[in-house]
Amino acid sequence: MRGIILSGGSATRLRPCTKITSKQLLPVYNRPMIYYPLNTLIKAGIKEILVIVAPERAGDYLNLLGSGREFGVKFTYEIQDKPRGLADAFIIGENFIDNESVTMILGDNIFEDDFSEDIKNFRGGAKVFAKKVPDPERFGVVKFDENMRAVRIEEKPKEWLSDFALTGLYIYDSRVVEAAKEVKPSARGEIEITELHNWYLSKGELEVAQVKGEWIDAGTFDSLLAAQVLAKEKLQEKLII
Ligand code: TTP
Repeated sequence: MRGIILSGGSATRLRPCTKITSKQLLPVYNRPMIYYPLNTLIKAGIKEILVIVAPERAGDYLNLLGSGREFGVKFTYEIQDKPRGLADAFIIGENFIDNESVTMILGDNIFEDDFSEDIKNFRGGAKVFAKKVPDPERFGVVKFDENMRAVRIEEKPKEWLSDFALTGLYIYDSRVVEAAKEVKPSARGEIEITELHNWYLSKGELEVAQVKGEWIDAGTFDSLLAAQVLAKEKLQEKLII
């Protein structure tokens, strides 16, 4: 299993704080934000991790994270020259993925859950994780049938579809690279990860599990503040780096 941490983007919602640095390098209590998703990958036993960053911040990431030896892992770096969308990670990461399965986590997503078992037991297809939230329209949204099987997934639906948002951790088999290459840009000009979920869903190979603990997408000032509190009050003893 390979790991990808997607840590580019433009972070317009956190301006002016992100005018001179990357969102995922901002502090969340006592660590840079990216340490939290890194903890999630490293705790799950992933040893080879691709860090995808924006060109103007690449040096900062290299200075902060280095080779990975300090954490017992190996980091590879790639640059995303423009924020083309989350699915772009699998096109950028094609050589790195090298026909293995891959877990991607977003650099601004902070989880309390431990995904070790999901990652170790993954055998193919795709597995993603949903959580009931008060503001599903900010995210990809999944509708379940009465047996809690996913039936529909939509990116930021304008009309209410369900209260279940898809969180920023995704496990795919190596076919995700081919699937990503087929995705056409959406109206907002991004190649959407929702299309990858639907690619697997249409084949009956998408599993949607639920996140049990806390999950925060720290991309707004309010969610960043909530992430600070979560990190201080609940996450400290779970961190390994
Ligand atoms: P978003 O929070 O959707 O986008 P953003 O970080 O650019 O912020 P804003 O909407 O405030 O302008 O992105 C989710 C995560 O994915 C975040 O960690 C940044 C990352 N990302 C990339 O690395 N490349 C991309 O092309 C996109 C769209 C996001």
